[in-house]
Amino acid sequence: MIADIIVDLQYGDSGKGKVAHTLLESGDYTHCVRYNGGCNAGHTIYHKGEKFVTHHIPAGVFWGVKSIIGPGCVVNLDTFYREIKALESRGVFCEGLVFIAKGAHIITATHLAEDSTDQKIGTTKRGNGPAYRDKYARKGVRAETIPHLEKYLVDIYEELHNEEHEAVALFEGAQGFGLDIDWGDYPYVTSSHCTTAGAMLNGIPPKAVRHVWGVAKCYETYVGNKEFETSAQIFSQIRDVGEEYGATTGRARQCNWLNIDLLKKAAIINGVTNLVVSKMDVLRQVDEWVVRDDNDTIHRVHSEDMFRRFVKSQISEGIAIYFSESPHTI
Ligand code: IMP
Ligand code: MG
Repeated sequence: MIADIIVDLQYGDSGKGKVAHTLLESGDYTHCVRYNGGCNAGHTIYHKGEKFVTHHIPAGVFWGVKSIIGPGCVVNLDTFYREIKALESRGVFCEGLVFIAKGAHIITATHLAEDSTDQKIGTTKRGNGPAYRDKYARKGVRAETIPHLEKYLVDIYEELHNEEHEAVALFEGAQGFGLDIDWGDYPYVTSSHCTTAGAMLNGIPPKAVRHVWGVAKCYETYVGNKEFETSAQIFSQIRDVGEEYGATTGRARQCNWLNIDLLKKAAIINGVTNLVVSKMDVLRQVDEWVVRDDNDTIHRVHSEDMFRRFVKSQISEGIAIYFSESPHTI
């Protein structure tokens, strides 16, 4: 098999949906697989000029590509069925295209009730943490145990390692490196593996990886309870221009300048081969070109051109960089 992986290098919401949608249009892929997270994710996708927000369903459905929710994921079945209905009512055909790996775990009513009382992390209250905790405590509910899911269930091994036709699969992540359970700012993290390594857990042999598409914004946003935004007025402006409000919960996203050290680290750890830097149109409108480092030292780079050059100089040679200036495409 061949695997291309999309990974968010920041705190989610960097434009993975857009990258997945763009890559899938090529018709090169036999499968699209979501590899982590649950309906805490909100992927904004523009398809034929119309805006869609998906939570569980991988972007393959927009182009007729078989779409699988992988074993690294947790699933809320109400949301799953509702999302299929909503997509179909708008002409995005899901029948016979959407599947769930047998080993994916179910988010139960108990998980939702427990997460709804979270005060500490600022979760999306979608039951993620409790569902993954029960998975690892070996008392979770696997998709394969739910009779009414039968027509959706697949064995991911048989799908990806089929001797008759080689699978070329695009692995679509959720959340991001800064929210990863191991690499993020613990405990202000999500409960899954949001990295390339997390994608591998869904049945990819290491030598099958072809491209790793890292996605970042040219500034940063974070949703949750830690203090992230410094008080500068400019960040309110970026929030407004960039429409930085959660696609899942509607919460205002805290904004800050691009942390170049985090970007570099995330690109290295995830083995990025292609980097998409999104939302250049937003910073252009605000017209402030600033980056920061891990010590919160601010570097003014003055112009868009110098910003591009600075990012290129920091990211290792051999990584192809795309500066994206539209919510519709790379
Ligand atoms: P949880 O994943 O709902 O448990 O939330 C843990 C942290 O991850 C919180 O700070 C959430 O706001 C954040 N989070 C979870 N999913 C996303 C996402 O898709 N985009 C951005 N932040 C997210
Ligand atoms: Mg999102």
